Amino acid sequence: MTTTKFDRDVGVIGGCGHVGLPLALTFADKGKRVVIYDIDERALARVAGGTMPFEEEGAPPMLARALGAKRLECTADPAALAGCRALILIIGTPVDDHLNPALDAIPKALDACLPSLRDGQLLVLRSTVFPGTSARVQRWVKERALDISVVFCPERVAQGFSLREFGELPQIVSAFDARGLAEARALFGLLTADLVEMAPMEAEVAKLFTNAWRYVQFATANQFFMMAQSHGLDFYRILEGSRFKYPRLAGMPGPGFAAGPCLFKDTMQLAAFSHNQFYLGHAAMLVNEGLPDFLVQQVKAKTTLADKTAGILGMAFKGGSDDKRSSLSYKLKNILRTEAARVLCTDPRVKDADLVPLERVLAESDVLFVGTPHPEYRGLSVPDRALVVDVWNLFGRGRVL
Ligand SMILES: NC(=O)c1ccc[n+]([C@@H]2O[C@H](COP(=O)([O-])OP(=O)(O)OC[C@H]3O[C@@H](n4cnc5c(N)ncnc54)[C@H](O)[C@@H]3O)[C@@H](O)[C@H]2O)c1
Repeated sequence: MTTTKFDRDVGVIGGCGHVGLPLALTFADKGKRVVIYDIDERALARVAGGTMPFEEEGAPPMLARALGAKRLECTADPAALAGCRALILIIGTPVDDHLNPALDAIPKALDACLPSLRDGQLLVLRSTVFPGTSARVQRWVKERALDISVVFCPERVAQGFSLREFGELPQIVSAFDARGLAEARALFGLLTADLVEMAPMEAEVAKLFTNAWRYVQFATANQFFMMAQSHGLDFYRILEGSRFKYPRLAGMPGPGFAAGPCLFKDTMQLAAFSHNQFYLGHAAMLVNEGLPDFLVQQVKAKTTLADKTAGILGMAFKGGSDDKRSSLSYKLKNILRTEAARVLCTDPRVKDADLVPLERVLAESDVLFVGTPHPEYRGLSVPDRALVVDVWNLFGRGRVL
């Protein structure tokens, strides 16, 4: 019988991250006493000082409330986790140089936390994981004779809008035992009444299917766009005309850079899980990762680039975000560094020493690529002399060139 006493409700391992921090703030806002544990001391200091380390809709006042109510502690010392009834692990889970899941991150994080693990705790895995990871963590716990319930409850929010989406999206909960399931239901029941139960491996695969599905959908739109563009057709006229009052195409996305920290790597995790038989996933990678080069080649078919200045508007991986992780704007920049005389990049949100002001990009670029459809660019007056490459159709100019 477990008798451990806890003086904190939730400890978030990786709690300064893009999805860990909003979750920590949400539980604090629900009245829970929350510990944020992270290895990023700079981010910890910012959060403890009341500043968000990245943009997140609605987060600053929530952070101020949590700190003011003394419901949020920030620490780089895992010892603080010993007092937490529930631990939520939500660290990054990348793929390696061979596009296989990098499997060491979670065991390393757990090893560091081991002295603070206590009988009676709930250990929630919230990172997107390679299928079978939860079962391995469950074994790891048992081998250490800990009376801890391991559960896997995947994070499915759209980065930047987590605080709103926690209340809007159902939560998938999966566990290895009844106690874990009941506690996971109680914890995530604080966010929503819509709880979906699955077996752990089902939940792990469900999360990967979700991201791979979106990645393949984006690739389909991107390939259609490339086909139309190659034949001199205006893809947006085709897309808008086809979707008009036609519900079966309502969900078809427009083309654009499908990038960021999740979709690509999770599609590759699924490819590894399927023993490299995930043909659609690999094909989607070729299409999505090939789009920047396709655009450059389209420009080269029209004009010489080697004597021109190329500008990129937007370096974040998606519009309205300050996150440049795995952004295809940077892939485009690298291609242009070899193809154009000069490359100038700008972004109203991303922090990067190489960026220059928007006005300079507009004034000096011969060819302008829209890398990210930031709201700040809507209605922007683009100089007539520049060749505009606008895969997002942000300026409504129809064909990209
Ligand atoms: N970003 C998204 O939109 C999103 C959405 C759903 C799921 N996910 C998944 O959530 C997980 C985290 O993604 P993210 O975008 O928040 O990553 P992130 O890099 O923004 O955050 C991870 C945090 O974990 C910290 N960290 C890393 N190793 C640690 C350790 N050993 N101990 C303690 N802290 C550690 C980092 O310092 C960082 O603050 C990934 O598995 C990702 O696939 C992300």
